[in-house]
Amino acid sequence: MRIVLVGPPGAGKGTQAAYLAKNLAIPHISTGDLFRANISQGTDLGKKAKAFMDAGELVPDEVTIGMARDRMNQPDAIGGFLLDGFPRNVSQAEALDEALKEDGVTLDAVLDLEVPEEEVVKRIAGRRICRNDSSHVFHVSYSAPKQEGVCDVCGGELYQRDDDSEATVRKRLEVYHTQTEPIIDYYKAQDLVVTIPALGKVEEVTERAMAALQGGE
Ligand code: AP5
Ligand code: ZN
Repeated sequence: MRIVLVGPPGAGKGTQAAYLAKNLAIPHISTGDLFRANISQGTDLGKKAKAFMDAGELVPDEVTIGMARDRMNQPDAIGGFLLDGFPRNVSQAEALDEALKEDGVTLDAVLDLEVPEEEVVKRIAGRRICRNDSSHVFHVSYSAPKQEGVCDVCGGELYQRDDDSEATVRKRLEVYHTQTEPIIDYYKAQDLVVTIPALGKVEEVTERAMAALQGGE
C-alpha cells in the first residue's frame, strides 16, 4: 500500500506510523525524522533544514522534495510506503503525484488524523523521544517510560525536541492550517481521504486506522 498520513503537529502521526507500518509491512518514511537524522549527522542538508525547523517553518521544497524522493526510491519502498509529514503543501503533493506517475503507481489512501488543538498542545508539551531511535516516542503522562528519561525499548536517553517550545508549536500549528490543510482538499478531489478521530488510547486509534484503511481498499 502507498499511504500518506496527515494531521496537525502532535496528532500522533509518528506514533501511529510505527504501528501501521509494522502491521502493513511497509516502511515508515518521515521527512521530519530524515531532517533530524541529517542534523545529528551534521550534513549540509541538515544545516540547511535546521533554522527552518527551529522557527517552525517549512523547509524549502527544493530541499525537501529531493530528499523524500531519494528515500522513496530505496529498495524497501518499491512495494509501498507510509509517508508521515510529506507532502506538507500543495506543491509537494503535486510533485509526489508526478513522481508516482513516473513510477506508474498511485496512492491508496490519505489518512487524516483529527485531534482538537488543545490536545495537540498537551501531547507536544509532554513528548519525549529516544536518541537512539525516533520511533521510540513517549509522553511524560500519557505513556510514561518506566524510568524517567530512559527509553523502555532500548535504554537510550530520552530528549525533548528543539522545536517543541510553546512559541514554535504555535507557529507550526499556524503553518499547518495555512499550508498543509489545503492538501486535504487536494486529495479529497482524488477521493483518497479517510478521516479518523485520533483521540483515545494509542491502540484504539491504530484499530480505527487499520479499519479505515482496510475498508478503503
Ligand atoms: P515533523 O517531525 O513532521 O513534525 P510534526 O508534523 O510537527 O509532527 P510531530 O512529530 O510534532 O507530531 P506527530 O503527529 O508525529 O505526533 P507524535 O506521534 O510524536 O516536522 C518537524 C519539522 O520538520 C517541521 O516543522 C518542518 O520544519 C520540517 N519538515 C518536516 N517535513 C517537512 C516537509 N514535508 N516540508 C517542509 N518541511 C518539513 O505524538 C505526539 C505526542 O503525543 C507523543 O508524546 C506521543 O507519545 C503522544 N501521543 C500520541 N498518540 C497519543 C494518544 N492516542 N493518546 C495520548 N498521547 C498520545
Ligand atoms: Zn529507544
